[in-house]
Amino acid sequence: LHDIVGVINLDEVRIGIIGTAGRGTMAVHWHNDEQKRSRVTAAFDVHQEFLDKFREEVNPKAYVTRDLDDFLGRDDIDAVAVFSPDFCHEEQTVAALKAGKHVFCEKPMAISIEGCDRMLQAAKESGKKLMVGHNMRYMGFIRTMKEIIDSGVIGEVKSAWCRHFINYGGRYYFHDWHANRKNTTSLLLQKGAHDIDVIHWLAGGYAKEVTAFGGLDYYGGDKTDDLRCPDCPDRKACVEAQAEVEPDRRQLCVFCREVNVEDQNMLLMNLDNGVRACYLQCHFAPDAGRNYTFIGTEGRLENLNESRIRVLTRRSNSWREYSDRTYDLKPAAGGHGGADPCIAEDFLDMLLKDITPIADPIAARMAVAVGCLGAESMREGGMPGKIPVVDI
Ligand SMILES: NC(=O)c1ccc[n+]([C@@H]2O[C@H](COP(=O)([O-])OP(=O)(O)OC[C@H]3O[C@@H](n4cnc5c(N)ncnc54)[C@H](O)[C@@H]3O)[C@@H](O)[C@H]2O)c1
Repeated sequence: LHDIVGVINLDEVRIGIIGTAGRGTMAVHWHNDEQKRSRVTAAFDVHQEFLDKFREEVNPKAYVTRDLDDFLGRDDIDAVAVFSPDFCHEEQTVAALKAGKHVFCEKPMAISIEGCDRMLQAAKESGKKLMVGHNMRYMGFIRTMKEIIDSGVIGEVKSAWCRHFINYGGRYYFHDWHANRKNTTSLLLQKGAHDIDVIHWLAGGYAKEVTAFGGLDYYGGDKTDDLRCPDCPDRKACVEAQAEVEPDRRQLCVFCREVNVEDQNMLLMNLDNGVRACYLQCHFAPDAGRNYTFIGTEGRLENLNESRIRVLTRRSNSWREYSDRTYDLKPAAGGHGGADPCIAEDFLDMLLKDITPIADPIAARMAVAVGCLGAESMREGGMPGKIPVVDI
């Protein structure tokens, strides 16, 4: 995709933000006293209070609007960053590309495979650049694990596992728009797209077939859809009660009927290079973290947490079999283990220097494809699904 569009002639990128609260705070990486390569010039949101806050916190001179056409029609925006909810990504990205803007779109790329393909097609037709916010690729422990695999120390990778524990599922995913399939398709996309992408990247192949089991085993229930925590007679005893008042739907009851995304997802994948992989996600765990394991013909690589990685070697008839290794990672400044400032810089490097970013839109589409077919499989009792290849 990037080869098609070539170098653009800019020395400063003027960025417009879609969706300013929550993840929209990434804007500060493109607009601050040190940043000489970009400015945030405008924002679009559906909530005026978030636009007001954005002007206070990011740029008081930025143009703000609740009208998307007005926003996309502006000639002081070279690139648009889409931080709105998942179900908006396709429509807003395609509209921005058609309006002649480059796009940074948050993950998951879209909530359907067809949606991702329409975005890739729009990028190709517009000649503009598209990047997807897979910031886990920029985390120190993931890059170190990739480097270890690429060094050959565990031999040829045959097996990839990820266990994903989430103890903030109630707070982040079951009190608002995330909890409904129409907005996200499945939490295999919203959360799992990161991990599926990491598995693809480190194992060196894309899933070609998937099967999955899962269900809504803790959240969900038969409370009415209009029940909000502050009005609930059980709020004092409820361990999931959301105390703070935020606009939109942050206090939806996690046990209401509208909640219909699975809170346990267990996915098996065959990759196109012969690697077998699994991804296990649970939203009511007591702790939070991702544990990746890669087993190769000469050893096993595992992260114990985000700051410690272990390599165990097995017999390989080489000097390597005598040394197991532990890597201790130093803390990095910036959100998501230092990944957020790095991905923001990579977006600018893509636009200003024509450097291909680590976060690749085709890979983002493949992660969504696995999540979509995994969700379908879960809902059809584990029926296997074949991942369609990208044909753009
Ligand atoms: N890469 C990461 O680490 C990471 C982390 C958090 C969120 N995200 C992604 O960022 C996106 C936003 O997530 P969030 O947690 O910030 O959500 P959020 O609900 O907290 O915030 C969404 C923002 O979009 C605005 N919005 C809502 N509907 C809109 C519409 N139709 N058009 C424009 N703006 C709209 C809201 O007013 C709000 O400002 C999601 O796609 C999520 O997957 C990525």
